[in-house]
Amino acid sequence: MELLNEIWEKKAFIVKATLATTAFWLVELALQLYVVGAESFDAAVIRSLAFAGATLIGASLIIGPVAVLMPRWNFVQYRRAIGVGGFVLATVHGLLVLTTYFGGSLMNLPWGADPFKMPIFFGVFASWLLYPLFFTSTDWAMRKLGSHWKTVHRLVYFAFLLIVLHFMAINPGAMATIPGYALLFVTAVAILLQMAGFFKRWLKARTMIAGVFAGAVILAWLAGLYLYYVANPIGG
Ligand code: HEM
Repeated sequence: MELLNEIWEKKAFIVKATLATTAFWLVELALQLYVVGAESFDAAVIRSLAFAGATLIGASLIIGPVAVLMPRWNFVQYRRAIGVGGFVLATVHGLLVLTTYFGGSLMNLPWGADPFKMPIFFGVFASWLLYPLFFTSTDWAMRKLGSHWKTVHRLVYFAFLLIVLHFMAINPGAMATIPGYALLFVTAVAILLQMAGFFKRWLKARTMIAGVFAGAVILAWLAGLYLYYVANPIGG
């Protein structure tokens, strides 16, 4: 009941966020259809949802550190809406891939032994990690979870790493396009600002747990990027 009341009270914001997310996806779809020249309408829809979703998830990760580093630029009130929009688009991308290319069954996905050669695993695992964040993205869930809310939402750092490994390896040709460059730019800014934000917060708090957590995230990223490099050596 409380949850329904919240949704009703926020209906104007939810409608605006839905329209803005849809408009962003339509721009990405137009780019795939008329600028990039996707091989089919289905491919254009699937790719535009992928690019729009990943770009919005990256953008949602930029907002936090910007507010920490430059407190005058505080867009934190939009962060959840942008992240949820990105999740919904990316989820539809995953579901369309599953139904259009693989007969609707997870069993038909080409898992392969090496996730870098068959990076579908990274996409599927990332989307599973994001479900708990999506279902706890309301004010109601924030109140119920209290201090645990932040802990749950820290999963996003690991999900984002899996997303980056997924899109870097799955179709490198698709990245050398305007939507690909935009996604790479947002991703690079998100990674750099997240690192700077972690560092600034750690300098302030200097707690053991903050240091250990930041260390774990940074190590996971370095290991992921190293494994990606080993799988796809530059010039190799
Ligand atoms: C958080 C969830 C996900 C995000 C953000 C995401 C993002 C992306 C991005 C940016 C691309 C590169 C654009 C492209 O080549 O199409 C891509 C491609 C692809 N993804 Fe995902 N993805 C996600 C989940 C999934 C899932 C669950 C599956 C499988 C069921 C999947 C399967 C694919 C496939 C097959 C491609 C290559 C498609 C093509 O190039 O035609 N993705 N994804």
